[in-house]
Amino acid sequence: MKLLFLNGVNLNMTGRREKGVYGTQTLEEINAEIAAFCKARGAECSFYQTNIEGELCTAIQQADADGIILNAGAFTHYSYALRDAIASVDIPVVEVHMSNVHAREPFREKSVISEVCKGTVLGFGKNSYLLAAESFLL
Ligand code: DQA
Repeated sequence: MKLLFLNGVNLNMTGRREKGVYGTQTLEEINAEIAAFCKARGAECSFYQTNIEGELCTAIQQADADGIILNAGAFTHYSYALRDAIASVDIPVVEVHMSNVHAREPFREKSVISEVCKGTVLGFGKNSYLLAAESFLL
């Protein structure tokens, strides 16, 4: 099982921005925990983060994976390009958010990608990524 963990805009600031919302661990530290989690379960994993919408679409188009775990950041709420990129591949994509987007500002209520994703995991901090990974490994 090959899993690709994709992070979109501003996720590179994790651990340094809005610590009360996203925690104090950096994305690199979180990815190291995810890698150990996947290794322990015999899954291969790879990671990519970009702040550029088109690069995220290209990463989805070119993915060599059995499953994609995607935290698109704010692109979630408005990127029809990302929605179409997800719809264009046969690889199941699980949408992830560290925060509970439904308990925050109204603009975060709407996800334009949920409809084309296999499922969504949100509100569990870094564990949202692990729970999403687990959904492919059950
Ligand atoms: C986020 C939630 C988004 O609304 C926000 O724009 C992010 C992070 C999350 O992980 O909770 O950048 O996707």
